[in-house]
Amino acid sequence: MVVANWKMNPETPAEAARIVKGVAALAPRGLNVVILPPALLFPAARGVYRGSKIHWGVQNIHFEKNGAFTGEISAPMVRALGGEYVLIGHSERRALGESNGVVRRKLQAAQAARLSVILCIGEPERTEHGEHFEFLKEQLHHALEGMAPGILRTLAIAYEPVWAIGKSAEEAMTPHDVHETSLFIRRELHTLFGKKGFSVPVLYGGSVAPENAEALVKGGEINGLLVGRESLIPNRFGEIMRAVARA
Ligand code: PGA
Repeated sequence: MVVANWKMNPETPAEAARIVKGVAALAPRGLNVVILPPALLFPAARGVYRGSKIHWGVQNIHFEKNGAFTGEISAPMVRALGGEYVLIGHSERRALGESNGVVRRKLQAAQAARLSVILCIGEPERTEHGEHFEFLKEQLHHALEGMAPGILRTLAIAYEPVWAIGKSAEEAMTPHDVHETSLFIRRELHTLFGKKGFSVPVLYGGSVAPENAEALVKGGEINGLLVGRESLIPNRFGEIMRAVARA
């Protein structure tokens, strides 16, 4: 699985269409490619490609279905426009004040609207004492504790250490550390859901580039990648998609 998080880019529908066409031409068959354009550009982006190689989603939803929530979009709206996925709990949204409690409510809203969820977790920093594991555990448990196991069919966890986002490929997390953390996440999913927890895909995000994609997936023993900046450059994203398909 490879997820393109466009964040607040690009500026125009024409530019969005150009990126989608480039990505569609390069997407390998059999790989689950998900593009998350800004909600406003979603129809334009989705409209230029109707094939089955790309799946569509948004970067955020509100937890209510409708109502007096100026500027927000709801899960049913996304579904009605053909969206299948939503990213929930990205660190850039948490930095704007989104709490673990809000993340959980958004997860429930997505589930009610039959949207698949890519749940982001990630520690702001690492210390040698390993407090980051407690931090990740808290994020996971708060979001998922007590949820019916049905959610596992439509859930992926994107592990994105905040300190590794938006840097150079050399500053991404090492495959060794990704591996250690992905094992930890799978263990916590097992604690929460038993054996079924192992079926949840675990992705890594944070300065993914063609230069590190294959090593991260293979060495990190993860099921895919969440890509920010490099997902806006079709040739570079094409290399990342190919690397994941090979791994
Ligand atoms: P980046 O962003 O690939 O630009 O580091 C990843 C993300 O924040 O999802």
